[in-house]
Amino acid sequence: MNTFADFVLTPKQINNISRGFSAKMRSGAAGKRSCFKMLPSYLTVASGKECGCYIALDFGGTNIRADLIELKGKRRAKTLQSTTAKIPSELTCSSATANELFAFVAAVVAKVVPDNNVYKLGHTFSFPVHQTAVNDGILLEWAKEFATSGMKGRRINAMLATELSKLGLDNVQPVALLNDTVATLLAASYSRKYATMGSICGTGHNTAFFDDQQNMIINLESGNFNLLPRNRYDEILDRQSLSPSRQFLEKMAAGRYLGELFRIAIDRKDFSQPFKLDTQTLSNIIQGLDTRFNESECELAVAIVKRAASLVAASYIGVLDYVDDGLQRSHGIAIDGSLYEKMPLYAETIHSVLDEHFGDKSKQINVFLKNKGSSLGSAVAAAIVG
Ligand code: BGC
Repeated sequence: MNTFADFVLTPKQINNISRGFSAKMRSGAAGKRSCFKMLPSYLTVASGKECGCYIALDFGGTNIRADLIELKGKRRAKTLQSTTAKIPSELTCSSATANELFAFVAAVVAKVVPDNNVYKLGHTFSFPVHQTAVNDGILLEWAKEFATSGMKGRRINAMLATELSKLGLDNVQPVALLNDTVATLLAASYSRKYATMGSICGTGHNTAFFDDQQNMIINLESGNFNLLPRNRYDEILDRQSLSPSRQFLEKMAAGRYLGELFRIAIDRKDFSQPFKLDTQTLSNIIQGLDTRFNESECELAVAIVKRAASLVAASYIGVLDYVDDGLQRSHGIAIDGSLYEKMPLYAETIHSVLDEHFGDKSKQINVFLKNKGSSLGSAVAAAIVG
């Protein structure tokens, strides 16, 4: 049994995956059945001139971050106050309620509110949300193994406002709700230059793109892409997850799952507890810092990480084919997330897959890290909504 080979993708497979990806985007855009939700954000890209002081809330997959950010216009911003808190696992399981979760979030926000003046708040909420306007929305389904109950049908920013009010913070007004991929794209367009895509490669994985025709950023929820060559370990992981048959790409590419995939594939009695191994372990193994694993297990860790990054690159090729068939223009891909930033081999594999696919034309694609894009993007969204 050659476990390593199960995680290797050929260039032909990568090509097929990207074609499948753009085909599914076309189906989604045409309102046909698709694995992509293609969620409207009701936001366009930033001008770079947005200014004022805003509260930025980043509700991610692992942490909650709140900042007080001053947008200075001229593409510059200053973080005046900042705080981060790890989301306790007791609040993400089904015995916890949405009210308890948002009470925790409101308490984090409270730490950066400087006075009684009115502050508009932009809320980056990193899960699929149904929106009919930019100011609020309803959770479609949890991802990243969250299972908090009592969210069904409830407006997310309204829940946050209620909890803020209980803390006496009626002066903090949640005016915008957006996905982290949308926030990353907004942040890139505010501070740097036009970007075609905003993407997260962290605990979760997803990509948003700017749709010229609608003049709007669209959240693909690309983690749910499902035309993928899955192996027996992917299937075991999916069956054991809290969201079976969903989020196939995310389960092969995102930080929440890579350590678990490795644990399932090495099948060792001393690592029998689910989610016992995380991405930090994989990172240590690849850097030769963890001596508990033999050579073939180390090779496997490398193959899992490279496959993850190759799949993400294939998805970017799919988006580029959809927005600009034949690559006529230049494109920016703004990425945030710990995998892209820190995991050995991840970023370089994305770059090399794009280079191999586009050849000389890959010079037209600028892939860059947009660190803390969700925070800046939240502030920019609040400013745009005004
Ligand atoms: C969520 C997306 C989010 C991504 C990155 C996924 O699990 O479904 O909405 O953008 O994680 O945080």
